[in-house]
Amino acid sequence: ANPDGAAETKRVFRGTLIHATREEAAKVLEDALLGVDADGKIAFIGEGKELHRLSKEFAFSPSSVIQLEKHEFFMPGMVDTHIHAPQYSYAGTALDMPLLDWLNTYTFPVESRFKDQNFAREVYTQVVKRTLRNGTTTACYFATIHTDSSLLLGHIADKLGQRALVGKVCMDRNNSVKHYKETIQESLEETRRFIAELLEKKYALVKPVVTPRFVLSCSSTLLGQLGQLAKNNNLHIQSHISENVEEVKIVKEMFPDSDSYTDVYHKHNLLTNKTVMAHGCYLSDEELALFRETGASLSHCPNSNISLCSGLLNVRNVLNHKVKLGLGTDVAGGYSASMLDAVRRALDTSKILTVQDPEHVTLTFEEVFRLATLGGSQALSLDSQIGNFEVGKDFDALRVNVTVPGGPIDLIEHDKPKIILEKFLNLGDDRNIVEVYVAGRKVVPSSEKLLY
Ligand code: GUN
Ligand code: FE
Repeated sequence: ANPDGAAETKRVFRGTLIHATREEAAKVLEDALLGVDADGKIAFIGEGKELHRLSKEFAFSPSSVIQLEKHEFFMPGMVDTHIHAPQYSYAGTALDMPLLDWLNTYTFPVESRFKDQNFAREVYTQVVKRTLRNGTTTACYFATIHTDSSLLLGHIADKLGQRALVGKVCMDRNNSVKHYKETIQESLEETRRFIAELLEKKYALVKPVVTPRFVLSCSSTLLGQLGQLAKNNNLHIQSHISENVEEVKIVKEMFPDSDSYTDVYHKHNLLTNKTVMAHGCYLSDEELALFRETGASLSHCPNSNISLCSGLLNVRNVLNHKVKLGLGTDVAGGYSASMLDAVRRALDTSKILTVQDPEHVTLTFEEVFRLATLGGSQALSLDSQIGNFEVGKDFDALRVNVTVPGGPIDLIEHDKPKIILEKFLNLGDDRNIVEVYVAGRKVVPSSEKLLY
């Protein structure tokens, strides 16, 4: 699906593929053949030695095959399961306070500026371009409470070719910034309008997501109505949960009759198999069991958890509970808009947990690679369409070259694909991501400029 109408043609690539499967966190296919149909879906995957047979079966000329270079590989595009698009405007700054002060001091004043669509257009164009450049083929965005600016974010993601879930933020409680909140009725009506107008555009890759900010920003009535709305229309849901000790304490005081923070969302119909909750640092095993039962997922945002001194999520424990989990940058609580940073911080966090408790089983780089790709697709309930290289899924992929001139990685001649992947994850950056594909469309380097 190409929004410019210029249909992509059928293509066949030959070279190394690395992706996550159920059985193997980082499976390497050397000298593979991968066919992409004109509709952007993976048509076949085979071995180089089958070239002759496959070229007949799928009607392509062996001479048209695009050969990857020696130190190149394809991996699935990365899935950022939690990012605040407006906060990109101050990413890399303002990390000197705990969550609730940080929201009141920095976040709400900045977000209130997105009533201005010119400002929104500028920042949203930057964040979509930057994340695509960093290899984020799918992003699950919070926008702000402003419906028209949120619609603009959907438009920009569509134009630039990023797969996106976009949420108009809902909040009817806020005592710090005067105009940065809604009445219950405004929040519901504007959410309905946002969803209707976004769906009307029929963007191929952009979907709405019901977005109560978090329990502290929403009345019980608003939470319940949003839960009902999502349920009636089978919509995605996103919010925050159990990020910071102070936050958890206040939620318990506000809802003394609920068993837990998770139970508050559950009682408001907000835990479904299309729900993704950010953070979850302080969830009990009972709460994780409720995630597992409802099919709701977690977004692990390690940079943010460290930068705001929020906490350390024990991902091993989450995985042992068989709860779906992806990684998120949580810009701007997390200062980096790169999923490679999220991969590194997830590994760091796991290693710190091992320092604290030697019994803790540290995550491997392969496991974190799976979380950044397949795990994210599962967390957003998009795993039937994306997440790895399976026939019939959309071709969302990064062409990685670890030996780009002037790049950050040095190789030793005999380095094997697993070592090359490990070096890319730990040392690589956007210079090594030489091409980005979303649903078969090459979006980096981009052929067009976004002009208004
Ligand atoms: N909890 C409620 N809103 C936010 C936000 O914008 N960022 C983070 N990290 N946590 C939140
Ligand atoms: Fe967040």
